[in-house]
Amino acid sequence: MNNFKTYIKGLGVCMLLLLTGPISFAQSEGSTIALLNTTEMMIILVLFVMLLVLLVAFYLLTILQVMVREDGIRKAKEKGLAYIEEPSAWSKFYDSLTGAVPIEKENTIVLDHDYDGIKELDNHLPPWWTYMFYACIVFAVIYMFLYHVSGTLPLQTQEYEIAMAEAQANKASAEADGNAVDESNIVFSEDPAVISSGKTVYNRNCVACHKAAGEGGIGPNLTDDYWLHGGSIQEIYNTIKNGVPDKGMIAWGEVLSPAKMNDVTSYIHTLKGTNPAGAKEPQGELYTEKAETE
Ligand code: HEC
Repeated sequence: MNNFKTYIKGLGVCMLLLLTGPISFAQSEGSTIALLNTTEMMIILVLFVMLLVLLVAFYLLTILQVMVREDGIRKAKEKGLAYIEEPSAWSKFYDSLTGAVPIEKENTIVLDHDYDGIKELDNHLPPWWTYMFYACIVFAVIYMFLYHVSGTLPLQTQEYEIAMAEAQANKASAEADGNAVDESNIVFSEDPAVISSGKTVYNRNCVACHKAAGEGGIGPNLTDDYWLHGGSIQEIYNTIKNGVPDKGMIAWGEVLSPAKMNDVTSYIHTLKGTNPAGAKEPQGELYTEKAETE
């Protein structure tokens, strides 16, 4: 029964783990686990406890097995018999898959061929192999039916066409969102929805340097006819998208979607000639609409 005592001790350790595990978890919550929200924390905790319970259950089962075995040995001793161990579930399963004939019994399947002392055994195919073979046949029939007879599942070329159609649809919807805009095809829009969306983008990202009415601060005045980097709608879009990094103008193309840059460009266009109070002195070159058509 010495064995038995060690097992009970092990069980104690398991229970201790079960109790302290969640506590140590809770302690680290503040620092590392801050990335997870409460629901995720709960799920992880529940999974952790489940795992521990499973471990303890497995451990109890092992103890039970040991007890049954020791009992068997004791009974066999009382009757003066040798104790024969039951094969484990695993070894039974393994034997059923290999179907191997034990070496002691090989003489029952030896064939009467004898090539200079080399003998041949009449082993049949191992069951694991035949099962797999049958599974392959079943798979092939189902596969054949689904792909070639009923046409339920798409073949490679069909899959390709489906993927291409999906990509086309995505592209079309992106275009509908205005995301296909760039400096080559942008046009000024008077659409109030575009202007108001542009205003939102401007107020959120640009006022810090260009001021609320575009009168200019750190950045230049956006309401006059003078531009450092060109005053056409395409040039303005280009400046916004690529920025002027060494002069402090951010490359917004990395932050804003093309649609948003489109909207803010049109919004800036509406500021032209508004002449706000405290406007910064003109910088750059005079730009007139006429020049745009030349
Ligand atoms: C961190 C400050 C800063 C922010 C924020 C900023 N800009 Fe600028 N912007 C500048 C500076 C500085 C320049 C001038 C660059 C130069 O001197 O070449 C500039 C230039 C420009 C120009 C070109 C002006 C010209 O004369 O050619 C446009 C257009 C412009 N900004 C639009 C925007 C828009 C739209 C936003 C918001 C999405 C924005 N800026 C946000 C600093 C800023």
